[in-house]
Amino acid sequence: AGGTLATGALPVSSPPQRRQPAVPFAEFFRMPMPMPRLIEPDTTRNGVDVYSVAIRRTRTEIVPGLQTEVLTFDGGYPALFRATTGRPVLMNQHNHLGTPVSVHLHGGEVADVDDGGPMDSIDPGDSRAYHYPNHQPHAPLWIHDHTHQLEAEHIYRGLSAFYILQDEDERRLPLPAGRYDVPIMLRDVHLDDKGQLLYQMEDSHGRTTILANGKPWPYFEVAARKYRFRILNSSNLRIFRLRLADGSPMTQIGSDGGLLPQPCLVDELYLTPAERAEVVIDFSHYPVGTRLELENTRNFGKDDPARKVLRFHVTHTAQDPSSIPVTLRTLPPLPEVTGRRSFELSMDDVTKPGAQGYINGRVYDHQRVDTSIPWGSSEVWTISNKDPRFPHNFHLHLVTFRILERDGRPPSAAETGLKDTVGIDVGETVTVQATFDSYRGKYLYHCHFADHMAMGMMGQMEIT
Ligand code: C2O
Ligand code: CU
Ligand code: CU
Repeated sequence: AGGTLATGALPVSSPPQRRQPAVPFAEFFRMPMPMPRLIEPDTTRNGVDVYSVAIRRTRTEIVPGLQTEVLTFDGGYPALFRATTGRPVLMNQHNHLGTPVSVHLHGGEVADVDDGGPMDSIDPGDSRAYHYPNHQPHAPLWIHDHTHQLEAEHIYRGLSAFYILQDEDERRLPLPAGRYDVPIMLRDVHLDDKGQLLYQMEDSHGRTTILANGKPWPYFEVAARKYRFRILNSSNLRIFRLRLADGSPMTQIGSDGGLLPQPCLVDELYLTPAERAEVVIDFSHYPVGTRLELENTRNFGKDDPARKVLRFHVTHTAQDPSSIPVTLRTLPPLPEVTGRRSFELSMDDVTKPGAQGYINGRVYDHQRVDTSIPWGSSEVWTISNKDPRFPHNFHLHLVTFRILERDGRPPSAAETGLKDTVGIDVGETVTVQATFDSYRGKYLYHCHFADHMAMGMMGQMEIT
């Protein structure tokens, strides 16, 4: 049940508190934003990149001068993997924690045995090899824990790694590359006055410290030229609405499933948990010396430290041979629809102990198949958020989908690409189309507000 997590050897979670959370550290733009720690393969065997990853507890400096205990893939807080389409990966994960873990490649097209299901976990002290064929197109994927009812706390404490899959179609484009192509993993945390991560379910008001690549409100030095940013919202509950403080538009070029068909100018990026956006920001419009904030306009008011995210410092000039093509990729036409289904998301009052989350009125049960899908079908799913209080989103394992409508209207340009997670605000209804022509087997769909996953807001589909 939701409120009673078996935290095992994890630090014991405090009971929910009503008092205002202490914000021991709200100093903005004091430290540089690092890159996530790149984890490289140990070896390559018959064209397969073989990794050996230790899932372990470590300490990292979030608040200057204090050591924060975190859970990591190979010590990276956060970590980064780089992979190439057509080049398979064998990922050996060794669980050095006192709790079970399950490793999921979010957005990955993998066999069900390699999908890191909630019940398919690695026991403490054990290891497991996950096969990632990487036969899908380029996409900014995400590795995170998925252990039943521990996923929310594990992700919160750091079991979260970017997995950037690239292909030739993408690499061929003249977009900013190399050091001008920068991954940014955003999330929020609740730190106590000793700098430790405090975890309690549904603590959206307490998690006011914004981390970018593991550091609070960092700055990032840029040249006065174009940059590509690959942004992942790895928060449990927080929705980011990101804009440049001077109101300049950004050029969005990608989303969950890689590049958009065409670039589009956007004033803001709206990212619910697990969603990704790729943007190009052109700093050549700014004189050297400019300081430009990336702000979060979805916040709790002017004293909310989470209204700030990071700040770009334009420190020098540089040549810029990059450009943004008018066409980024061609997506295949949507196949003929073979079936339609509806899903309703709802949740108990989270202030009540044992609150649960529901899809079509049912709490997740791993022994139940909620949705049987004939292989090869292309289905239209209508997903409604019937919750009067909480935004939700919807994530589908295994395949990407296309957004057809949001409350009866066509999606914005930013939502015309391949998606695996879609935000659904209070009262909204979103219609998507997914084609199940990949693997057969049992996979999940769920709300990706991780605390809601822990409350059972998940369903199981079987492709037969
Ligand atoms: Cu991010 Cu079920 O996954
Ligand atoms: Cu997933
Ligand atoms: Cu939810």
